[in-house]
Amino acid sequence: MSLTPPDNLGNPGTVPGKVTTQSLIDMKAEGRRISALTAYDYLMAQALDESGIDVILVGDSAAMVIQGRNTTVPVTMEQMLYHSQVVAKGVQRALVVGDLPFLSYQVNSDEALRNAGRMVKEALVEAVKVEGGRTIAPTVKRLVEVGIPVMGHLGLTPQSIHKFGTYRVRATEPDEAEQLRADALALQDAGAFAIVIEKVPAELATAIAAELEVPIIGIGAGGGCDGQILVSHDMLGLYTKFHPRFVRRYAELGQAMRDAFASYIKDVQDGQFPDENESY
Ligand code: KIV
Repeated sequence: MSLTPPDNLGNPGTVPGKVTTQSLIDMKAEGRRISALTAYDYLMAQALDESGIDVILVGDSAAMVIQGRNTTVPVTMEQMLYHSQVVAKGVQRALVVGDLPFLSYQVNSDEALRNAGRMVKEALVEAVKVEGGRTIAPTVKRLVEVGIPVMGHLGLTPQSIHKFGTYRVRATEPDEAEQLRADALALQDAGAFAIVIEKVPAELATAIAAELEVPIIGIGAGGGCDGQILVSHDMLGLYTKFHPRFVRRYAELGQAMRDAFASYIKDVQDGQFPDENESY
């Protein structure tokens, strides 16, 4: 019997180099940096996977970049299940992580288990992500004990935006930095396989990455992390409502789309589309 983990299409042992939670921990130990990006649909997930990305996060940022909401708070469990299902369908090699949306895991650990279980069972993701540190650690432990790998998320935690009221850099003061370090250790002790740290000073993220055994995946947390994640729609220039300085734009697809749409509209109006070759 092959011990190679199954791919997301349910074919055991057919994908060379399949990324697992353990291979991310091995990458950190070997000093190899982890690349991660978000996806919300089949085609984007397929393109990411074929490009060799290590981790695909079905982020609750879907609320903003897909649904046009102002925060990540309103996206529902059913919507995250839908996005996770269509992403997992397009992926063979990368590790697919599904974000648990606001209030799907905070009420109690029974609800967290039920919702995380749905992500793994119905959407076929291989891990879930939750925001929070010491307060959520007992829930993380419970999920891990039943076999659901958990990624943590500390620093700027967008689901708590109404508590903080601002997207400013977190943990700039020594006390908050120490709290964040304690949260990271608690998540590692609870069995989290990796932790996203968002928008904190590079020096702090680097120190936590050096102290912990599990990978620290940074977003706006400097180059000393074990890996990096960005929202794909930000780095592709598709979501342009705001542009935090940690987002490097690798393309301007929003503008490319507008140009293409404008050319099509003009061609239709001028009678230039379709031509003979495009007709029967
Ligand atoms: O929802 C999301 O896209 C995220 C990333 C920003 C890490 O949590």
